[in-house]
Amino acid sequence: MTAAVRQEKLAAIFKSAVVIPVLTIERLEDAVPLARALVAGGVRVLEVTLRTPVAIEAAKAMMAEVPEAVVGIGTILNADDLARARALGAQFGISPGATPELLQAAAAGDLPFAPGIATASELMQALAHGFDLVKFFPAEPSGGIKALRALAGPFPNIRVCPTGGIGEANAASWLADPNVVAVGGSWLCPAAAIRSGNWAGITAMCARAIKSLKPA
Ligand code: 3PG
Repeated sequence: MTAAVRQEKLAAIFKSAVVIPVLTIERLEDAVPLARALVAGGVRVLEVTLRTPVAIEAAKAMMAEVPEAVVGIGTILNADDLARARALGAQFGISPGATPELLQAAAAGDLPFAPGIATASELMQALAHGFDLVKFFPAEPSGGIKALRALAGPFPNIRVCPTGGIGEANAASWLADPNVVAVGGSWLCPAAAIRSGNWAGITAMCARAIKSLKPA
C-alpha cells in the first residue's frame, strides 16, 4: 500500500465518522455492550485507547462481535504499540504525539495512522514523513480553533482531527473549520456511564450528536 493510499483510507474513515469516541475501557466485559451502544446511536468508528491492561482484548472482542464497528487503536506511543494494533487487525491507529521512531515505523507500515501534533514543528515532522492528516492534541488547551487557523496559514492543506476538550458545546464549531475532517473525544462515552452500564444513555447521546453534527 502506498503512503497516499494509506492516508486516503484514513481520511475516508474519519470523514465517514464525523465524531470519534475516545474509549478507555477498564473492564473487558464492557467492551461489546459499549460498542453495541455506540453503533446503535450511529457512531461506528471507535478509538480504543491503549490506556488500560484490557485494551487490546477489548478491541479484539469488539471486532469479533460487533462487525458494524470500525475499530482503531489510540494512545499509540511507540513502534511496539503500532505493531500490536496492526497484528490485531485494527482499521487505523492514532497517537497523541509523535516521536521520530514512531513516525518512521508508521511511514514504513501500512496501517492508516494519524500522529498527534500541537505545534508547527511537530506538524512539519509529521508532514516530512508523509502524514498530512493529523490529530491536533490537546486541541482546546493548545489554543483551540484560533491556534488551528494560525497553523493553517503556513500549512493550508493539512487535515485535522482535533481532540482534547471537545464536547457537545463546541464540536459543531470545530467541524465547521475547513481543515477539520472529524472530531474526537471522550464525551460520548463518559466513564460513569460505562461503569454503571448505562448503554441506553450512551446510545441516546450518540444519536443526538450524530443528528446535530452529521450532514444527512
Ligand atoms: C484523547 O486522547 O484524544 C483525549 O484524551 C480526549 O480528550 P477529552 O477527554 O478531553 O475528550
